[in-house]
Parts: sequence; structure tokens; C-alpha cells
Amino acid sequence: MPFFCLWNPESPRAVSFTGAVLERTGQFPDSLAWIDFLNGSSLPPSQEGLIVRIDSPGKNWPVEKALLARGLTHVRHDWLEINTEDLAEDPGRIIASHQYHQGFCHALRQLDDHFQNVRWMQHPADITVMNDKAACHARLYAAGVRVPPALGVPRDFDDLLARMDAAGKNRVFLKLCHGSSASGTVALERSAGRMQAFSTAKMSPGGPHGTLLHNWRAITRYENLRDIRRLVDAVCRHHSHAEVWVPKSGWQGRRFDVRIVVIAGRARHVVARLSEGPFTNLQFGARRASAEDLRAHLGAAAFTAMCAQAEHAMACFPRSLYGGVDVLIDAHKHLPHVLEVNAFGDLLPGVLHEGRDTYDWEVAHVSTTGT
Ligand SMILES: Nc1ncnc2c1ncn2[C@@H]1O[C@H](COP(=O)(O)OP(=O)(O)OP(=O)(O)O)[C@@H](O)[C@H]1O
Ligand SMILES: [Mg+2]
Repeated sequence: MPFFCLWNPESPRAVSFTGAVLERTGQFPDSLAWIDFLNGSSLPPSQEGLIVRIDSPGKNWPVEKALLARGLTHVRHDWLEINTEDLAEDPGRIIASHQYHQGFCHALRQLDDHFQNVRWMQHPADITVMNDKAACHARLYAAGVRVPPALGVPRDFDDLLARMDAAGKNRVFLKLCHGSSASGTVALERSAGRMQAFSTAKMSPGGPHGTLLHNWRAITRYENLRDIRRLVDAVCRHHSHAEVWVPKSGWQGRRFDVRIVVIAGRARHVVARLSEGPFTNLQFGARRASAEDLRAHLGAAAFTAMCAQAEHAMACFPRSLYGGVDVLIDAHKHLPHVLEVNAFGDLLPGVLHEGRDTYDWEVAHVSTTGT
């Protein structure tokens, strides 16, 4: 069963996936590093039956810089663009998210053109949509998946406020269309002339528009209107998706959402993420809870309904074997809402479903069936 993987070989994803392939097939998967591919190394010849896995290019500065450089010729000029020639590594900085995504999409198109009649673990065109929160939301909404109501892609703070007025909403989430790990996310609320925003990003002076954004380990609360305007303007420049802030259900004195990995049409690995603030990502101190505990807390019917929403969301990507679906249960009606489908959302070390991790399920599925 021949595998070909494109990835950052130092990443835990590559290490774990290699282990799963080795265990099931007795052979190492063929692979190429993202940086070598972007620098022009050849892909293996396309052959029928080849199983192709495209993994995350993230968390690797030379790869990020190469994708930014590639994206410069494809960027839509409405959004922030940056010349990469003298760009130095600056950990945590949100550089030019839309430009990065354009470079990534270009690379995905190249892969799609090259590989014919192969078995994609995730189709490049699906990855393109999953890595664009606005496009992903639109696809899920069109298919009838329950999602938070969207307010579109605002140009700036004034445009966001106009959209909130038009929709009659006072609490919104603003998210980088092409972000992950809550990068550059803003949770904003207003009431009777007051406004406050919570954000994973910190501002500092610099860059072409006067404000640099860095992802920060702690959440910053902004109350001053001038700061909130500056923050929202800066986040919007990166191409960001606005949607209603849905209050999350409480549990164990915290609020939670759920990562559900759907593989071959079925919700399998489930992890609840419990936090004290609006962001449940683990780097902000969120705790995890197991599928068993969550099922006991919600009850079997609500747990099944939540998994069904995740499966419905994944069914919007029929050419892909798996995806990590984020779901929250709202505090009022206790209904599951799908936040997004993560193309690279299957890295859940130590989380098992029927005794097997995500990678083992994926490899077992492709090596025994035709999908
Ligand atoms: N509309 C919303 N209402 C309430 N909370 C939200 C909403 N959208 C996102 N969140 C929360 O914001 C955080 C980050 O959101 P999301 O998962 O969409 O982004 P991400 O950057 O892709 O992160 P991840 O790496 O977890 O996929 C999560 O804690 C999520 O629960
Ligand atoms: Mg995500």
C-alpha cells in the first residue's frame, strides 16, 4: 500500500503518522518536506492507488516565509500584503494571513494538478475551503449544518459595527479567515454605550499600517474604544470572518467546546476543552475532558446529536477521509453549533477511540478500503 506524505518532517504529526503506517504496513511512507517541495524538489510520479496525505505546513519559519513569498503574486490587494525579502523570524507575529493562504492554495493547486487518480486522504480543494473560515462557514450553512450566524468579512471596525447594527447583534467573534489556535481572534461585546473586547492578540507599533499583531499566551482585555478600533482594524486587514458570539454551555465551573475527529463518516475521537474565558484553546490554560465524561454529562441523546452535527459538517467534504470538527453547545437551548472543520485537526496525542488513535484509524481505513 504505497503512501506519499508532504509535511514538516520534524513535526509530531509526521512522527506519529509514520509510526501508524509502519505498524500497519511494515514500511515507511514515502515523503517530502514542505520546504523542499516549495524550493522545487520533484514530487514522486503519480500512480493509480497511491495514497497521498498533505499535512500542515505550520510551525516552521522557512516554510512560512516561502508560502508568504509565493502568495505575494496571488494576493488580493484589498488585504495586507508584505514583501518577504528582508523579513526576519518574529515568533508569534501574525504576518500577512491572506497572503500566506494564497501561497498555500497555489501549492495545493500544484499538487492537485500533479497527482491524477490517486487516493487523497484529504482532497486539496477541500483543504483550501477548510483553511478559509468564511468559505467553510458558507459551505456548512448551505448544507444546513447548524452554525453561528455570520456577519461576513468586515473591512474595518466601522464596517463591523454597521454589520452588528444591521443584524441587531451586540456580541461577535472576529476570527482570521486563515488562522488556527485562535490566532488573532477577538471576542467583542457592547451594551448601553460601553464596549469591551477580549483578544488572543497584542498590538505593538510597526508594520505598513502602524500596528503589528502578535499572538500572546494570555488573553488581553481591551476597554478603551480607541484601542478596540485599532485592534479590530488591524485584524480585519488580515481578512477576517465575523460571526455571532454564541454563549457556551458550562460544565465543571467552566465553559466548553468540543473537538470531534470524524474519520470515514463517523465521529470517533472526542475531546472537550474547558476554559474560564471565551477561548478554549489549550495554550490559554483550558482543561480537557474525555468523551466518556462528556457523554455522562450531556446524556446519550445530546451526545449523539452533537456527533451527528459533526458528521453532517464532514459530509460537506466528501473527497476527504477525515477532519477535526469544532462544536459548541449553546448555553440557552443546548443545541450543538459547528464552528469549523479543521483540515489538520487530527493531532490528538493520547486520545483513543476504541483503543486506537486518530492516525491508526486513518491508516487502517485507507489500507483496507477504496476511499
Ligand atoms: N462564534 C463563536 N462563539 C463562541 N465561541 C467561539 C466562536 N467562534 C470561535 N469560538 C471560540 O474561539 C476559539 C477559537 O476558535 P476556532 O476553533 O474557530 O479557531 P481556530 O483558531 O481555528 O482554533 P483551533 O486551532 O481550535 O481550530 C475556540 O475556543 C472557540 O470555542
Ligand atoms: Mg481551526
